[in-house]
Amino acid sequence: MTDFLHVPVLLSETLDLLNLRAMPAGRQAGNKVVDCTLGLGGHSEAILKKIGKSGKLMAFDQDETNLKKAKQRLKKFEKQVTYVHSNFENLKLKIENLKFGAPDAILFDLGLSSPHVDKPERGFSFQKEGSLDMRYDQTQELTAQIVINTYDEKKLADLIYQYGEERRSRVIARAIVNERKKHSITNTLQLADIIKAATKGKIGHHPATKTFQALRIYVNRELEVLENALHQAINALAPKGRIVVISYHSLEDRLVKNIFRYYTRDCICPKELPLCQCDFQKKLYLLTKRPIIPTGIEVAQNPRSRSAKLRAAERL
Ligand SMILES: C[S@@+](CC[C@H](N)C(=O)[O-])C[C@H]1O[C@@H](n2cnc3c(N)ncnc32)[C@H](O)[C@@H]1O
Repeated sequence: MTDFLHVPVLLSETLDLLNLRAMPAGRQAGNKVVDCTLGLGGHSEAILKKIGKSGKLMAFDQDETNLKKAKQRLKKFEKQVTYVHSNFENLKLKIENLKFGAPDAILFDLGLSSPHVDKPERGFSFQKEGSLDMRYDQTQELTAQIVINTYDEKKLADLIYQYGEERRSRVIARAIVNERKKHSITNTLQLADIIKAATKGKIGHHPATKTFQALRIYVNRELEVLENALHQAINALAPKGRIVVISYHSLEDRLVKNIFRYYTRDCICPKELPLCQCDFQKKLYLLTKRPIIPTGIEVAQNPRSRSAKLRAAERL
C-alpha cells in the first residue's frame, strides 16, 4: 500500500459526525455523500463501507494524480462513485449537471495530501529541492515561481502578510526582489535560503513556513474557493444533511467558523435597523461549538494531523 501513504485525519470523528448509514436490503436509495477532497481516498473508502451498496458518492479532486490513485484504491466500489476532476468551487454546478440530488453528507478535508509534500517536484516543501510550482491543479497557469519573480515588492509583502500572517513580510519581500535582480528564483531551497538569511533565522518554526503557506494559499486561491464552496455546500444539503470540514490553519478555520455561524442566524439585517427586513432563514445547527482536534495518540501516530481542526453542522 505504499502508494496510499496518506493517513486519513480524524477518521472516526468524521464518520460519526457525517451520520452515515446503510439502507436495509430492498430499500432503493441509500445515503448520498460528496467528498470534496478525495485525495488518496482514505476518508472515501471508509464512507463507502459505511453507506453500503445502495449509497452513492461524488468525489472531487483537482489533482489528477491523486484522483487516479484514489480510483485504483476504490475500484471495487466503481458503480457507486462519480469522480469529478475539478475544483470543489464547482460543487453546485456538478451536483446539478450530474443530477446527483441533494447530498445527505458533505466532507471537506482541506489542503495538502502527503504526496504533495513528499514529492519535491510539486514545490510545496521548503525542506526538499524542487521547482517553485505549488499548484494543486497542474493545468492552471499561475505558479509560485511566477509570483516570486514578477510581482512587485508591495504586492509580494501584502500577500505574504495576508495569507501567511508573517510579521516580517516586508523584509522578506525586499530580500526576494533584491535577489531576483541578480538571477531568477526557481527552486524551493533557494527561496527558503533567501528567507532564512533575510530574517536571520528564528526560533521555533522554520523561517520559511509562513511564506510557503502564503504562496500556496495565494496560488490556489484557497480561501476564496473555500468560501464559495461552503455557501454552495450548505445550500445544497438535504434537510438533516451533515457537513464536516477539517482545516489545517487558522485562516481556514476562522472562515469555516464564520460561515457556519452566519447560517445559524435568524436575521442578517444591519444592527441599526429597528425591524427585521430580510427574509433570511436559519439553515444550520452547529454540532461542534468548539473545533474537534486529534488526540495525542493520533498525533503521535500521524504527526501531519497535529494542526487539524474539525467543525460540523446539520442542515435544518
Ligand atoms: C488533505 S487531502 C485529502 C485526503 C483524503 N481525505 C484522504 O483521506 O486521502 C486534500 C485533497 O484535496 C485536494 N484539493 C485541495 N483543494 C481543492 C479544491 N479547491 N478542489 C478540489 N480538490 C482540492 C488536494 O489536491 C488533495 O488531494
